[in-house]
Amino acid sequence: MSRAKWRRRVFAGSLLAIWLGAVPGGTAHADATAYSNHCAKCHARAVVVARSLKGDADTEKASRLDALLQSHHAEDVADRAKIVNYLIGLSKR
Ligand code: HEC
Repeated sequence: MSRAKWRRRVFAGSLLAIWLGAVPGGTAHADATAYSNHCAKCHARAVVVARSLKGDADTEKASRLDALLQSHHAEDVADRAKIVNYLIGLSKR
């Protein structure tokens, strides 16, 4: 491979990496994965959990859920944030 071609490939590769990190679809996928790893074995249908969340505004739902999950299968703060984000998103559909 010529040097110029190689450089173009590296450039295209880093653009792809930036894009994957930045698009909402990329993070939504990570959020869904966190849910399947931590919750799906007991709550198979995320949308059912999402619709059952108590609270009026999203912020209230999110803070109640966050408090519950601290002692309900999502002790890791990063995983918990992903799961809360995922369920709040689903609750609006
Ligand atoms: C080992 C099984 C198990 C796992 C794993 C699990 N749950 Fe639960 N969850 C339950 C049971 C049992 C209940 C109580 C009965 C019910 O509401 O289904 C419950 C209740 C809940 C409730 C309602 C609580 C309330 O008081 O309103 C929510 C919301 C919830 N779980 C979310 C989650 C989320 C999000 C995860 C992933 C971090 C998760 N659960 C992981 C078994 C589990």
